[in-house]
Amino acid sequence: MAQQPVTVTVTGAAGQIGYALLFRIASGQLLGSDTPVRLRLLEIPQAVHAAEGTAMELEDCAFPLLRSIDIFDNASEAFSGTNIALLVGARPRSQGMERADLLEANGGIFKPQGEAINAGAADDVRVLVVGNPANTNALIAQAHAPDVPAERFTAMMRLDHNRALAQLAKKLNVSVNDIRKLTVWGNHSASQYPDIFHAEVNGTTGAKAVDDQAWLENDFIPTVAKRGAAIIEARGASSAASAANAAIDHVYDWVNGTPEGDWVSAGVPSDGSYGVPEGLISSFPAVSRGGRWEIVQGLEIDEFSRERIDASVRELSEEREAVAKLGLV
Ligand code: NAD
Ligand code: LMR
Repeated sequence: MAQQPVTVTVTGAAGQIGYALLFRIASGQLLGSDTPVRLRLLEIPQAVHAAEGTAMELEDCAFPLLRSIDIFDNASEAFSGTNIALLVGARPRSQGMERADLLEANGGIFKPQGEAINAGAADDVRVLVVGNPANTNALIAQAHAPDVPAERFTAMMRLDHNRALAQLAKKLNVSVNDIRKLTVWGNHSASQYPDIFHAEVNGTTGAKAVDDQAWLENDFIPTVAKRGAAIIEARGASSAASAANAAIDHVYDWVNGTPEGDWVSAGVPSDGSYGVPEGLISSFPAVSRGGRWEIVQGLEIDEFSRERIDASVRELSEEREAVAKLGLV
């Protein structure tokens, strides 16, 4: 029997991630090669015309799975009936802007979007927040969607996960396919902690295979954690194709399940696991089963990892306190 179309809403559709993402969604890479999609694009009024240009190009690809494209400058309409919401559009930090100002400006975007998802999205809606600060923006949207199960709000940590996989594979001169069970913990920020102690590489752990503490501390961890800034410095713009690729990976795995014998990193609401305060949207080792993310349990966390996880989680707690003061959560 032919599959029913799935409605996917993408915000910030005229931006650079939007441009790298939409064609992959329409070609079937987000949900699978037999799932038709209806696209609903949300932009600010000034960028709607640019989004129309992208829609013309999407049409010109004649993708067999693409059933419709609608463009809105209004969140209520954009999220009406949506099954998958990719919240990409956000307010970037401008020069001289304090963190509290950035959080407040993003509150002005993610609060109404959460409300619109609550009011009109499909019952099975799944939300991935990409726009920065992604974890706390996800928390804001979630707080304004009380009728949607909290676990449906996630933040993108898959780019960090993929970056860590690539750096470790390069160091060990192996394929990324040879590495399993790598984890990035915490916040999508420079405080994140890529953990190779539980990673498996050809019958040993990532840390043993590397056997180089100096590289781990002074090269691997900072390279992964500061990769976003390095790309901005080199490209003059933040990562776009790799961010879109990670969004595809996250949603594909959420819907279709993660491979047996492996896990990925996902920003999901904490249930208190590993000492992360309940409710924070923090990155964990996670598997997807039956369309739901589950935090992998029972990993031994040594002192080295504990310190780093705690530091990143502390930053998330501070962000939550800051948006609570603004009345956003
Ligand atoms: P961009 O500036 O090219 O595009 C952002 C788009 O969002 C713009 O077209 C803008 O008009 C739109 N927009 C702004 N406010 C909106 C609103 N209220 N509703 C709908 N659309 C709105 O930026 P980009 O390079 O596409 O990046 C988007 C976001 O993703 C940024 O916040 C960036 O920092 C973040 N990002 C996150 C990750 C991650 O791993 N989580 C990685 C890369 C980038
Ligand atoms: C990234 O990790 O590439 C981005 O989050 C960087 C940014 O600040 O947009």
